[in-house]
Amino acid sequence: TWTTHNVVDEQVALIKAQVGDKRAICGLSGGVDSAVAAALVAKAIGDQLTCVYVDHGLMRKGETEQVEKDFVAATGVKLKVVDAEERFLSALKGVTDPEEKRKIIGREFIRVFEQAQAEIIADEGPAVEFLVQGTLYPDVVESGGGTGTANIKSHHNVGGLPEDLEFQLVEPLRKLFKDEVRMVGQELGLPEEIVQRQPFPGPGLGIRIVGEVTKERLDLLREADAIAREELTAAGLDREIWQCPVVLLADVRSVGVQGDGRTYGHPIVLRPVSSEDAMTADWSRLPYEVLARISTRITNEVREVNRVVLDVTSKPPGTIEWE
Ligand code: XMP
Repeated sequence: TWTTHNVVDEQVALIKAQVGDKRAICGLSGGVDSAVAAALVAKAIGDQLTCVYVDHGLMRKGETEQVEKDFVAATGVKLKVVDAEERFLSALKGVTDPEEKRKIIGREFIRVFEQAQAEIIADEGPAVEFLVQGTLYPDVVESGGGTGTANIKSHHNVGGLPEDLEFQLVEPLRKLFKDEVRMVGQELGLPEEIVQRQPFPGPGLGIRIVGEVTKERLDLLREADAIAREELTAAGLDREIWQCPVVLLADVRSVGVQGDGRTYGHPIVLRPVSSEDAMTADWSRLPYEVLARISTRITNEVREVNRVVLDVTSKPPGTIEWE
């Protein structure tokens, strides 16, 4: 019978057998998949594992701290944090095309991650032979492992693999679906914020700013997103919806009236969706009171935002993310 307890035991034994006395590296994204994969491997091989977290500056409010503090506290893993915000922002300067953004973020990510790997190998010696990945069953299917699904957006996963990879992969979640991964994470004692985290794209807020990505815009979006998440959680809706991207239309301005006068600010889009697997989705019929609270708070608390709009498009035709 399938129990999370059995899954953990079985995977721990398999990981031990696979890795032996060698060393492994795992990239953490802040998401549930890489966190659970890392926690499983840490349980199996302890400090033979080193985790790497690349802070690309495109994370939401509090997420980096969650990895740096709470995840480390829960698992005791060795963690190397690379602060690469400036590097990503300068690579993204002037870029507005969504695919170009994705490519730049993916490319920079691999470079920074490989640099970190090289440093870990320099510290730990040639015994570093394994790379841990939080690949899930749907990832295997979606990236062509069977269905031949068209690649609509270039999906960027943390630890995206270079062609000349010299590591062997450890993928303890390959047979699991998301809800199973969350249960395994719970069994492993990971923080609730990480285990219950909704999907968040690898390129982060970089693809939730329609227009050029700047530090200032990221800070605005981080505030708006934090408010939306807070209110959805307070209303108990965070587990009901699949995810709710919050998008800044940085190239759009509209007229508003706030305080004593006219404003000319930017709209924020709320994109709450319900879905089973993100392949198709429907827009979530959120209660008006909750939408009203989010709207009032965002326009009151986030400078330069004077309008909140709701995306009522299903997927297809709209994708979940705007870019
Ligand atoms: P779309 O926008 O294609 O998104 O409907 C489907 C799901 O995938 C997430 N997403 C990504 N996840 N790297 C990821 O790890 C990516 O580049 C990426 N792009 C989209 C999105 O949040 C949704 O859950």
